[in-house]
Amino acid sequence: MAVLAIARMGHPVLLQVAGDVADPTAPEIRRLIADMRETLDQSGGVGLAAPQVYVSARLFLYSVPESRSEGADDPALPVQVLINPRIEPADDEMLLRMEGCLSIPGLRGQVPRYRKIRYRGQDENGDIVQGVATGFRAHVMQHEMDHLDGILYPMRMTDLGRLGFDAEMMRYGARA
Ligand code: NI
Repeated sequence: MAVLAIARMGHPVLLQVAGDVADPTAPEIRRLIADMRETLDQSGGVGLAAPQVYVSARLFLYSVPESRSEGADDPALPVQVLINPRIEPADDEMLLRMEGCLSIPGLRGQVPRYRKIRYRGQDENGDIVQGVATGFRAHVMQHEMDHLDGILYPMRMTDLGRLGFDAEMMRYGARA
């Protein structure tokens, strides 16, 4: 396994619509996932999408740390892999949460996302995985899904007054 370089905002790969993964079990995809796991592990982040490591393919990793779990319907989860994902809102309710992104180091912003989503995709064995997600999990899945469509979280923000440097946001209590 290898720790991969992470693309930063401004690199065009982050604005591309990624292509489908033809065979989730292909050796190069397995290797990519293993390297992305290592990279995410080293980064301290909660999610990582393939375009962030310069691979324009529709797959992402995400997790729910114990500290971010929001109850029984949003349990802590070790790193999950979702390939060729589809996400749709399960209802109309949206809420704001503070987000950061490994491709936008040092910044945080409050981003509106759907509270509850339905998801469907494939795992590393090519098997279908699907379900309903809510809480922090739903939020991080929507953030990672956006990376596959060339969307970065500031592009989703409705109030750029709520974008700022991490250290300042923490210092002045703006953290959500
Ligand atoms: Ni991100």
